[in-house]
Amino acid sequence: MIEAIRKRKSIRSYGKKKLSESTQQHIIKVIDEVKVLKSPFGHTITLFFYDSPYVDEGQKIKIGTYGFIKSPKAFIAGKIENSFEGLMDYGFLFEHLILRLTEFGLGTVWLGGTFNRHDFKGLIEKGEIVPAITPVGYASKKASFREGIIRKRISADARIKFSELFFDHDFLHPLSEDHPYASYLNFVRIGPSASNKQPWRIIVENQMFHLYLKRTPKYGLNLRYDIQAIDMGIALRHLTIGLEEDQVPYTIKKLEHREIIEYVYITSILLNSM
Ligand SMILES: Cc1cc2nc3c(=O)[nH]c(=O)nc-3n(C[C@H](O)[C@H](O)[C@H](O)COP(=O)(O)O)c2cc1C
Repeated sequence: MIEAIRKRKSIRSYGKKKLSESTQQHIIKVIDEVKVLKSPFGHTITLFFYDSPYVDEGQKIKIGTYGFIKSPKAFIAGKIENSFEGLMDYGFLFEHLILRLTEFGLGTVWLGGTFNRHDFKGLIEKGEIVPAITPVGYASKKASFREGIIRKRISADARIKFSELFFDHDFLHPLSEDHPYASYLNFVRIGPSASNKQPWRIIVENQMFHLYLKRTPKYGLNLRYDIQAIDMGIALRHLTIGLEEDQVPYTIKKLEHREIIEYVYITSILLNSM
């Protein structure tokens, strides 16, 4: 999975080839794996695979991406409880899905804003939401002109400096890039986030990671859900994949009295060898 974290990037232009039968079967296998994966806050995700760009083939209702995605051949959508922790779980589980598909050589992109949520209205019950979807397919050899513009506008390849994201014991002291846990944090840093805002901040204290959200003012207010909660779930998945790779046992636990003005305390990861 670590290789997939390194390799993954958003793909918005797809090739002409349709997904082969065996690829479709692999996607379904990965979906089944994610459905039973344990999420940090105990929510379950329901996933839907569309082997065409239509949400309803019969009525020819095309999944609307407002032209942001070129030639999508298939999509995966999911639904979950519309609460902060539900959305964090969505980020955690859906990113696992994206990384598994990346390992298999498939292109994806998180779409949390630039798709027509209304198309999926029939799937959800009260209190639920389809927060984000992804097209899935073979990446086009050449990214579209529009994709180039999008990436440039949001500086998709840039990341905030390590020393401004990760801290040693408190927010006054930046963490050294030579810290023994730096590699785990780098997996968070290269991860995707909505509009590449990178709202995650982490304090390392002995053998604990404390996750905080530095909200982007006014961001996402027009959406009916907290999009930056998803970013936090993705960060949690990247960090835990790093730990799992090194077989470091951990527990995710919300601690008391960690609130700090300006940052929203989310949860902590405690290494069990403490
Ligand atoms: C929760 C979430 C929502 C996103 N929504 C969109 C979207 O609606 N449209 C889009 O083109 N990209 C979307 N993205 C992709 C980000 O713009 C992208 O991850 C970021 O710019 C970093 O680029 P990279 O994924 O290539 O590393 C979203 C990403 C996340 C995590």
